[in-house]
Amino acid sequence: MKRTKIKDILLSEQTDYAVNVKGWVRSFRNNQFIALNDGSGIGNLQVVIGLDTDETLIKRITNGASISVDGMVIPSLGKGQKVEIKADSITILGDCDPEQFPLQLKNRPSLEYLREIAHLRFRTNTFGAIFRVRHTLSYAVHKFFNDRGFVYLHTPIISASDAEGAGELFRVSTLPFDNPPRNEDGSINYKEDFFGRATNLTVSGQLEAELGAMAFSEVYTFGPTFRAENSNTARHLAEFWMIEPEVAFNDIYDNMDLAEDFIRYIIAYAMEHNREDLDFLANRLAEEEKQKPQAERSELGLIEKLEFVLNNKFERITYTDAVNILIDSPANKKKKFQYEIKWGIDLQSEHERYLVEKHFKKPVIVTGYPKEIKAFYMRQNDDGKTVAAMDILAPGIGEIVGGSQREERLDKLTQRMSEMHIPAEEMYWYLDTRRFGGVPHAGFGLGFERIVQFVTGMTNIRDVIPFPRTPKNAEF
Ligand code: 4AD
Ligand code: MG
Repeated sequence: MKRTKIKDILLSEQTDYAVNVKGWVRSFRNNQFIALNDGSGIGNLQVVIGLDTDETLIKRITNGASISVDGMVIPSLGKGQKVEIKADSITILGDCDPEQFPLQLKNRPSLEYLREIAHLRFRTNTFGAIFRVRHTLSYAVHKFFNDRGFVYLHTPIISASDAEGAGELFRVSTLPFDNPPRNEDGSINYKEDFFGRATNLTVSGQLEAELGAMAFSEVYTFGPTFRAENSNTARHLAEFWMIEPEVAFNDIYDNMDLAEDFIRYIIAYAMEHNREDLDFLANRLAEEEKQKPQAERSELGLIEKLEFVLNNKFERITYTDAVNILIDSPANKKKKFQYEIKWGIDLQSEHERYLVEKHFKKPVIVTGYPKEIKAFYMRQNDDGKTVAAMDILAPGIGEIVGGSQREERLDKLTQRMSEMHIPAEEMYWYLDTRRFGGVPHAGFGLGFERIVQFVTGMTNIRDVIPFPRTPKNAEF
């Protein structure tokens, strides 16, 4: 018989039909009641086995074992479920030794502990919910852009440029480490490398996306990006996924509207399609919050927070206003900030969080940053000091989006590149977009894991990506 998904059985609530289900045992009570889960949803299916079931078979029905069940779907007499399965036959697909099974040995395994057993963390309620939500969000990303006529452009993962200019590059090379070919001055001769030049894993698909936007008008990328940023924080990964739309003819205001619409759309989509998972995660978070001192607890639960974002426009302020708010803030006066706040600095995460969590209590879009702290491609404002940048800051996370209107004026762009020591000759292919029918355009990058964190309420970014890569950690 063909396998039926547990989610479909629980959803339909129909009874009196024969099915086959397969999955992993979550618990086995009284030698009679199996809670079975196949990952299709958070709900377990109750399988009831006959009292005459063979002893040796019963011994093999342990937590974590995988089984196949043929039986009838019947109305359930027990609490907690409308339907259950009366098993006619059970086959063990994979045994699971209870003496060694990590999820059996720990009563309530911590998130940290589960990170060390990557293959099993998917089988817990929490991570099952997180990764189903992550899936839905990524589907919603494609749906949002597809419905609006954007072209999904696959930008390269191996790149010769450092789009953000931060120098956090992972080198890609086939040269021998111990004895690389050298130039006369002792530097490494990358002409002999695989690509005939120095290459790295991409930090952003933006520059390539800009080329696409100059032909398709609206494009987006959604791919892995890599940064050798040595920061061991709860919101940084060395390998993360980024969504980068790039739109011809858009200015910074269109860009902000697009980002807001986009974020609301994917959150609403997850609320509609993953409600059970989100309710579970909301309860999990509420439990976690109870452990915290009163003053640190968030005022809104997870679902209320998401609804709040759906129903309220983001606050829009300039960098200059943001700095002034921070300077005048009670937190600053009480010397609560670790980093000094003054015009010209890059906002630190403590500043960003003060703005969104304490001052505005909602997501904030900050525009008009000093040009010195932003990338070369951002459009210069008439004041000569700031650029048309926009960062979106979210409660609990900080920066989730970084974007800008791009500098479309060739002379201003090349001037800025030379000020920042970016070799214009190597970037001829990028500058060509400003030479041959260039137009004003704008785009942004949404850190996918950061939005997954926001939607699932997980505080550590390592818990929202299946296989996190962080400094000193690429175990599996
Ligand atoms: O602000 P960033 O560096 O912007 C860019 O890369 C632009 N090229 C985007 C564009 O305009 N097309 O990065 C964008 C977002 C950040 O706001 C953050 O959410 C996420 O990417 N991000 C990270 N997420 C996880 N780990 C890291 N190390 C991240 N660095 C950035
Ligand atoms: Mg940024």
